[in-house]
Amino acid sequence: MSKIDVKINSSLFPIGVFLISCGEIGKNANIVTMGWVIPISSNPPLLGISLRKKRHSYELIKKSNDFIVNIPTREILKETDYCGNVSGRDVNKFEKTGLTPIPGRKVKSPLIKECPINLECKIIKDMELGDHNFIIGEVVSKSVNEEILNEKGKLDINKMNLFSYGSNRYFDVGEVIGKWGFSLR
Ligand SMILES: Cc1cc2nc3c(=O)[nH]c(=O)nc-3n(C[C@H](O)[C@H](O)[C@H](O)COP(=O)(O)O)c2cc1C
Repeated sequence: MSKIDVKINSSLFPIGVFLISCGEIGKNANIVTMGWVIPISSNPPLLGISLRKKRHSYELIKKSNDFIVNIPTREILKETDYCGNVSGRDVNKFEKTGLTPIPGRKVKSPLIKECPINLECKIIKDMELGDHNFIIGEVVSKSVNEEILNEKGKLDINKMNLFSYGSNRYFDVGEVIGKWGFSLR
C-alpha cells in the first residue's frame, strides 16, 4: 500500500456539527453552524470554538461575552446547514428557520429549544490563531430535554437522532459498536 502526498490542510473527520446561539432575544439573536468545536477540560468544564473573526456571530459573542453550544439532531439538519450558509447580518436565522429562541439560564445568549442539549458558556479566553479565533468558554449551565433521559435519569445517546460531518457531507451516526474500555474485558 503506497502513501501519496496530497495538498496540506487541517481537516479532520468525522466531526460533530453544532449550532452556536448568540445575541439577544428580540434584538439580534443569531445562530452559527460550527464544526470546529472541542471539549478542553472537565474541571472546570471548558469548551473551545474556532470562529472566523469576520463572522457576524463573532461580533455578537464578543459583545455579550458568552455563547451557547446546542447539539442539533437529524430533524433539524436542513436548518443546521442553512445557518452555516447565510449570515445573521443579512437574515434573521431564528425567523427563517422557525427555530425557537428561549432565554438562557445563566447567559444573555438564547438557547435553541429544538436542540436536546444546550451548554451555556461564558468566555474566558479569545486567541487569534491563524485565520480563526479560538474562543474558550466555561460551561456555566447545561440543560437537556427530558425525553433523552433513561429511566435512571441518565442521558441516553440512542434517543437522539445524531449526525456527523466530514468532507463537506453530513452522515448518520449509526448503532453503538462498542463501549469505552470494552477492549480490556
Ligand atoms: C457544516 C458547517 C460547519 C461550519 N463550521 C464553521 C466553524 O467551525 N467555524 C467558522 O468560523 N465557520 C464555520 N462554518 C461557516 C459559518 O457557519 C457560516 O459562515 C455562517 O454563515 C456565519 O454566520 P454569521 O455571519 O451569522 O455568523 C461552518 C458552516 C457549515 C455549513
